[in-house]
Amino acid sequence: MAGVRIDGLAKRYEAVTAVEGVSLDVRDGEFLVLLGPSGCGKTTTLRMVAGFVAPSAGRVEIGARDVTHEPPYRRNIGLVFQNYALFPHLSVEENVAFGLRRRGVPEAAIRTRVAAALARVKLDGFGARLPRALSGGQQQRVAIARAIVIEPDVLLLDEPLSNLDAQLRHDVRAELRLLQTELGITTIMVTHDQDEAMSVGDRLVVMARGRVQQVGTPADIYRRPRNRFVASFIGRANFFAGRAEAGGFVTASGLRLPAPDLPPGADTLMIRPEAVTLVAQGAEGLPATIETATYLGAGWEVDLRLSTGERLSVVTPAGDRAWQPGQALAARIDPALGVGLHGDV
Ligand SMILES: Nc1ncnc2c1ncn2[C@@H]1O[C@H](COP(=O)(O)OP(=O)(O)O)[C@@H](O)[C@H]1O
Ligand SMILES: [Mg+2]
Repeated sequence: MAGVRIDGLAKRYEAVTAVEGVSLDVRDGEFLVLLGPSGCGKTTTLRMVAGFVAPSAGRVEIGARDVTHEPPYRRNIGLVFQNYALFPHLSVEENVAFGLRRRGVPEAAIRTRVAAALARVKLDGFGARLPRALSGGQQQRVAIARAIVIEPDVLLLDEPLSNLDAQLRHDVRAELRLLQTELGITTIMVTHDQDEAMSVGDRLVVMARGRVQQVGTPADIYRRPRNRFVASFIGRANFFAGRAEAGGFVTASGLRLPAPDLPPGADTLMIRPEAVTLVAQGAEGLPATIETATYLGAGWEVDLRLSTGERLSVVTPAGDRAWQPGQALAARIDPALGVGLHGDV
């Protein structure tokens, strides 16, 4: 087992900078998720860790070993891709055995280790089948077995669940997290799906335009996003432009919102939809009118127009009340849940 240290990593193609100045410390046994929109440099970063893409600048260390110039097969990594990448003409067993054979592991040990890996991913008894005789979820389990059977120092996963349908994606991601915890294997996974990232990652790395925007636990990132990009990529958010003043925030239209602990110079206030409580008209709060109200079973999504003109999206638990467009009420913002931000990415 080993941690991974990435230092000042960059990849520049002629016309594009795919990755710039990425530095990360992945702890031994940690599950780290690279998260960001398509094209932000996640795959390129992962492929530089794997050794398939040569960095334009920077270093990669696995354990305490500098592997920047080592070929992939010398890095002892397990890889899983979105499209499974199984050998179609080889049985499940032979697919999983492949890396062990290449390493010259004795036949008896191969059999034991392959059987153990297949049992780990709940595919005992499937060894003789060809990949095409398996469902997508089963094929991805074979790919995971193939990656872990070599006892890699690091497991690298690139959008491993993206080809699975919603229910299966949900199940396989829970299995993947459990497996990773049991094996204690340092893991870096790439995804563009924030729910997936939040549900499996010990820490998330939010990327945009080739750069790291923020690194932190899911809760850190949700509650204390560093900039507007992160705030809107992870969850939903209301933004108000304006300036921080003693004990609060004043929007461009002159609305004063409660918000302690804003960083000096903050020019944007972010309020999560669930930080707003709807109360009766005339009660303490910001006077507002409902523009749209959508019932979602567990709660309501309500879009408000404040009397000062701003819009505010609210998510509120379903109680006895029904909310309707045109209804006048007051919106109470929990001051502890407002987050001050600096500008944009
Ligand atoms: N071999 C390449 N040649 C030129 N541009 C590339 C190459 N690989 C990736 N890119 C570009 O680098 C950027 C990041 O790509 P990628 O790492 O695949 O993003 P992601 O995995 O986050 O979707 C994109 O703009 C992509 O088009
Ligand atoms: Mg990608």
